[in-house]
Amino acid sequence: MLTEVTATRYVTPLREGGSLPGIVEADNFGTYVMKFTGAGQGRKTLVAEVICGELGRRLGLRVPELVTIQLDPVIGLAEPDQEVQELLKASGGLNLGMDYLPGSIGFDPLAYQVDPAEAGKIVWFDALINNVDRSWRNPNMLVWHGDVWLIDHGATMIWHHNWPGAQASAAKPYNASDHVLAPFGPDIAAAAAELAPLVTEQLLAEVTAEVPDEWLVDEPGFDTTDALRRAYAAPLLARAATIHERISMDAPTKTKPSQAPGWLTEHLAPWPHPTKKDRAEKAAAEQAGSDLAGTAQSSKDGGR
Ligand SMILES: Nc1ncnc2c1ncn2[C@@H]1O[C@H](COP(=O)(O)OP(=O)(O)OP(=O)(O)O)[C@@H](O)[C@H]1O
Ligand SMILES: [Mg+2]
Repeated sequence: MLTEVTATRYVTPLREGGSLPGIVEADNFGTYVMKFTGAGQGRKTLVAEVICGELGRRLGLRVPELVTIQLDPVIGLAEPDQEVQELLKASGGLNLGMDYLPGSIGFDPLAYQVDPAEAGKIVWFDALINNVDRSWRNPNMLVWHGDVWLIDHGATMIWHHNWPGAQASAAKPYNASDHVLAPFGPDIAAAAAELAPLVTEQLLAEVTAEVPDEWLVDEPGFDTTDALRRAYAAPLLARAATIHERISMDAPTKTKPSQAPGWLTEHLAPWPHPTKKDRAEKAAAEQAGSDLAGTAQSSKDGGR
């Protein structure tokens, strides 16, 4: 079971998120990005966040810690925005929290390099869970302390919106052409060889057990929440074995975001970021190099 905390203060809405997640503080002194049960996307989004987030973490990918958050809507009474007020009112009880990564920056493929091995693991994982929400338009990855962190697994496992057709839906291929990591030459074969054997029935039972019962009850076609948990596990188990054969990647899309400025490129460079001293040393080395070239050139000229 995920750790359960209680929200003590609603800090601010995160307007860049379509579901209007909010930053909250909790009684364990933690700060979380909270996803609300009362959001229009519905509780299935939260189920997907838990199953895929916890699965990704167990496959060795970086996913911020997930918790459940008890919310008493009274904490939002002073919130002036009516949309936020209504969301809080509709979300009394258990909600989802993701550890807030302070100072993190949205991933920019032009400013940060990912090696083919790591890119391969992330693309393979997204193919497994059928994540359609990690494109360069909306990467849903954060860079924090020089590492890439995966967030937002709400739009995955499309088959859970139509259980009778789940098996057929889960058998479908995955087109990774628009994936934000497609340009990094993801090594899918190596990722599949390493990660697919880890996706066992036991691992999937473990991650589906993390989903609170109250987000699973009363699903049409299922008598018990455990039957629904098994229904979540089955397509993932089947897909893990062969999905690497069905990942397609066309040539990268033409329209790309604009070139990131140099200061951002440096800030996002893998940890440790270059310091002022590093930059000064680099500039001095470059200067020395061009002086040397200049000397060589003038001695050549002098020889004429
Ligand atoms: N753990 C976190 N730490 C810091 N910032 C975060 C974290 N999680 C999310 N954010 C910020 O909040 C934004 C919205 O989060 P998220 O993508 O999970 O919400 P969403 O409503 O599902 O968004 P959408 O569906 O529009 O992509 C992110 O783009 C990021 O800027
Ligand atoms: Mg998002």
